[in-house]
Amino acid sequence: MATTRSGGAFDRVPFDALLKRRLFFTPSFEIYRTASGFAGDTKGLFDYGPPGCALQANLVDTWRKHFVLEENMLELDCTVLTPEDVFKTSGHVDKFSDWMCKDSKNGDYLRADHLIENVLEARLKGDKAARGIAAAEEKDTSNDPAAAKKKKRAVKDIKSVKLDDAVAKEFEEILARIDNYDGLELGALIKKFDIRNPDGNNEVLPPVPFNLMFKTSIGPSSGSIGYLRPETAQGQFVNFKKLLDFNQNTMPFASASIGKSYRNEISPRTGILRVREFLMAEVEHFVDPEGGKKHERFEDIDKIELVLLDRHTQLAGSTEIKVMTVGEAVRSHVIDNETLGYFLARIHLFFQKIGVDPKKVRFRQHMANEMAHYAADCWDGELLTSYGWIECVGCADRSAYDLSVHSKRTGEALVVREPREQPLKIEEWQVDIDKKKLGPKFRKNAKAVEEAIEALSQEQRERFAQTLDNDGAISIDVSGLPEGQAELDKALIQIVRRTRVENIREYTPNVIEPSFGIGRIFYCLLEHVYWHRPGDVARGVLSIPPLVAPSKVLIVPLSRAPGFAPHVKKLSARLRTLGISHTVDDSSASIGKRYSRNDELGTPFGITVDFDSLKDDTITLRERDTTKQIRASVNDVLAAVVSLVNGTELWTDVLERLPEFLGQSEDE
Ligand code: GLY
Repeated sequence: MATTRSGGAFDRVPFDALLKRRLFFTPSFEIYRTASGFAGDTKGLFDYGPPGCALQANLVDTWRKHFVLEENMLELDCTVLTPEDVFKTSGHVDKFSDWMCKDSKNGDYLRADHLIENVLEARLKGDKAARGIAAAEEKDTSNDPAAAKKKKRAVKDIKSVKLDDAVAKEFEEILARIDNYDGLELGALIKKFDIRNPDGNNEVLPPVPFNLMFKTSIGPSSGSIGYLRPETAQGQFVNFKKLLDFNQNTMPFASASIGKSYRNEISPRTGILRVREFLMAEVEHFVDPEGGKKHERFEDIDKIELVLLDRHTQLAGSTEIKVMTVGEAVRSHVIDNETLGYFLARIHLFFQKIGVDPKKVRFRQHMANEMAHYAADCWDGELLTSYGWIECVGCADRSAYDLSVHSKRTGEALVVREPREQPLKIEEWQVDIDKKKLGPKFRKNAKAVEEAIEALSQEQRERFAQTLDNDGAISIDVSGLPEGQAELDKALIQIVRRTRVENIREYTPNVIEPSFGIGRIFYCLLEHVYWHRPGDVARGVLSIPPLVAPSKVLIVPLSRAPGFAPHVKKLSARLRTLGISHTVDDSSASIGKRYSRNDELGTPFGITVDFDSLKDDTITLRERDTTKQIRASVNDVLAAVVSLVNGTELWTDVLERLPEFLGQSEDE
């Protein structure tokens, strides 16, 4: 059960109403949704309003400082429009898909794993209801009658059907493994448990893969196919050589990109958690695969505790977590290597910095079938919400996959070349070809034959060397030749054992990729910081930390009398100079109402200009969460605001050193 920071049950109804009222975000093209004849599918598309834009910008700014600036990452801003060839090579054209089912009667499209998950979860809820467990879990702690009514209706909608103990256990195990099933397995589960479209109870057709990329054409020719990128990563990989050069050929290093990506989600339903256009922030950390992918700053994070759910636990049908330090996790091989562990810890610290509830964070390892086609290992940074655990960051070990495929396709050497400290002597089988004879013998096929010879492995070369010695000729497979094989005699080819001295080491770097969905983090954070004043659901508060809060200060003049305006103007100018974002509310609403409005916007501090301010140049400073106030000179208050926003002081510190003010009631 999701809870608020004050421990009560999380109620999505007033929370959603607050976000809507304060225009954090809104469905795109909403006025067209009700217009008659409008056929476009605008689901999964959202616009951010003023506080949403400010919060998003502050999250991105914090991300840049925490990752890009902290580690001198090389930032790129690459194009979204990508030629087909790039995504054909990266594997996205063939493999970047989800399993989709079609409703047999009404034509609805459903994502197969989500369909199974929703139906099994509903049946388990029905089972709990039948056993009398649901009533306790669904207890309504809010005093919002509309929310209570809606919740009551939702509970009533659950079919209270008791399951066999064994069936309930099987459902729990399937849910723990749900991300690991392929299309055939999902189809078998749908059949076995007679899973139907909950909307109309129709049967669904077997799952088929649906590619998630948006296809388009680039330029006037419809033959020039392109895609909107589904990740920023490929732009970084194709620029690898230039980045390595920019970095003076020094390894390891990381690149980073912040930008929009696009995925044609099958059936987006969970608000801004599943969208078709989204802001990503991705790091590609290039590391030498030799020596266990060590990280030189691992010591800095060794002792940080993480909550881990590994793949073996999930495959056993359980979701039991392990709490261990990153150091322990890497040394006991729960996390594969230091670089992966380093970034999981850095992600954890980022979550902490922006105000995520530490009790609602876990890192879950992907199961084998769940991993994207390019990944050798992957851990998701997940945040708990009223929708369950949400993947907000993927931290994948992409090995040498991407650089290798792009290099093979383009012929560009996406490798690192480093002088060896000691020359390396390598004993190997080398092939000498007499090209003057090869050309006339094979004519137009000579190149294919030569390539087939060069591609022979050391084992094959050793075997062929013996055959050449014994028989005087060998036959090797060459696709494209009419006979499928080329006959080569001793006059044309020799295979000899020699020592090669290598002074330069050449390798393809591996990539560790922390990839952030900024919109998902934005939403989860808002759920985590939402609560309401005791006994009053209408007085919602968003306890967003000052660092990322959309606006830092609200200036409230107590009166609209003529002396107040110049004072407010001066204060506003000084805050502007200090770079502190703020707003002024000089409306006629009561002071309590004005503060309440800003509690909903997550504004952490309020400055009141009252009649005493006009006389002695003092002002009050109110803190959002405690509603406590201090009173001090303008200079002292502004200095306190700067240190509170920068995080060099906490409110408790300020409260200790500046006099508390008890005079102003928020009920006025
Ligand atoms: N680049 C990570 C992802 O596409 O999810």
